[in-house]
Amino acid sequence: MKLDVCFTPNDFDTTQYYGYHAVVIDVLRATTSIATACANGCDGLIPVSSIEDANAIKLQNPNVLLAGEREGLLIPGFDLGNSPYEYSREQVAGKTIVLTTTNGTVAMNKVSSAPKVYTMSFANASAVICALHQACENTVIVCAGSAGSFSLEDTLCAGLAADRLSHIAELSDTAMAAQAMYRDFAGNLLKRVLQSSHASYLCRIGFEKDVALCLQQDILDVAPVFKDGIITL
Ligand code: MLT
Repeated sequence: MKLDVCFTPNDFDTTQYYGYHAVVIDVLRATTSIATACANGCDGLIPVSSIEDANAIKLQNPNVLLAGEREGLLIPGFDLGNSPYEYSREQVAGKTIVLTTTNGTVAMNKVSSAPKVYTMSFANASAVICALHQACENTVIVCAGSAGSFSLEDTLCAGLAADRLSHIAELSDTAMAAQAMYRDFAGNLLKRVLQSSHASYLCRIGFEKDVALCLQQDILDVAPVFKDGIITL
């Protein structure tokens, strides 16, 4: 099993990673919200790249919930934002959610041709790592990053996966770098991530509780899979 890490979605190349399983990470906050929604019984999430695509799906299927963010905030007319706290059982059980976020859902659609695509965060890390371990297939972890740039929290989460899989996987240079960074920061993850640009921004707009929640490890035992346009368990 080979394990590679793309620090940004732009590093993902369909030809280079042909046949690889993929894992998308957007710790703050899309993949944490997805894990929360799945754990709370939603029927599935449809990740789309634009608000227009989300609205078009709602026109065809009025029962879906519209969810997501732009600049971290609720999109006007949408039912839910992108805070994991909003994806409670009361809100999402039995519902299909159409989700559009600035970076996370774009990354998911970029890797959608992979034979299997998981979504991972710190919250559901062990469940996804366990699925990868069982599958034992070549895998590329794609960090959603921020506007095409590197993001610390996604790389640290990729590093956790690399660290846990290092006994069975052949790590690429980027996977080894992510592993080293994770090992260096593991004792102080929240403090380190709070210094990152997106965490600082979320705190400035009032979502400091989200950042703390998104840094909690293994609170959700779900391994969501994105297949045929929808994320389900
Ligand atoms: C994204 O997809 O860029 C994020 O999930 C943004 C956010 O923090 O809501």
